[in-house]
Amino acid sequence: MIRTSALRETPTLVGKSVCLVPLGPEHTDAYFAAGLDEEVRRLKGAHGHLTYEQARQWCESRAGRSDRLDLAILAPGDGRYLGELSVYAVSPENETAGYRIALSAIEFTGRGLGKEATQLVLEYAFDRIGLHRVWLYVYAFNMRAIAVYRSCGFHVEGRLRDSLLWEGRRHDALLMAVLRGGYERS
Ligand SMILES: CC(C)(COP(=O)(O)OP(=O)(O)OC[C@H]1O[C@@H](n2cnc3c(N)ncnc32)[C@H](O)[C@@H]1OP(=O)(O)O)[C@@H](O)C(=O)NCCC(=O)NCCS
Repeated sequence: MIRTSALRETPTLVGKSVCLVPLGPEHTDAYFAAGLDEEVRRLKGAHGHLTYEQARQWCESRAGRSDRLDLAILAPGDGRYLGELSVYAVSPENETAGYRIALSAIEFTGRGLGKEATQLVLEYAFDRIGLHRVWLYVYAFNMRAIAVYRSCGFHVEGRLRDSLLWEGRRHDALLMAVLRGGYERS
């Protein structure tokens, strides 16, 4: 069984270029603004965006959730908000969970931040929570994301054909997963 205390006590995880802290009300403005970024929305396949009030409610309600992890990605130096990630759909019986990550703007991508954040969270997911399997969905056109997930030990397990209809074109999604022991420690 997994250690549910490791989900209740939301951690702060500190790396070289990112610091992961519990997502909370203080991140509302940045979280809302990130949802408006057109290119990030395309990569996530998000057709709409949250209203400010929905973003506020989401950030405020995270502390009360002991069944998932929602972390803000901050710059260690100045605390600048860089994005957020979640470990969700946790199945304690199966020791599995889903993972998602989004940096808040394209200017933050390609600098190794996503890889470092993913490595930090996988280490926590496997070593502290005690998960066996972490899975995710990614659109097949998102080569940067796929490269990061592969380099962290994820393997493609399946293809969900024509999952996304974006500006008149259909795109496949990939199911990827990493098992405990199969991930790259930082
Ligand atoms: C996906 C995401 C988290 C990746 O984080 P990142 O900080 O941008 O990625 P990194 O800089 O850590 O690593 C990028 C890697 O992709 C590679 N890469 C970049 N563009 C690529 C491309 N077109 N094809 C193949 N590889 C590519 C880089 O070479 C690098 O690999 P390396 O470390 O082996 O050199 C981030 O880009 C993001 O949040 N994007 C916006 C939202 C999104 O796409 N979320 C994921 C939804 S599933």
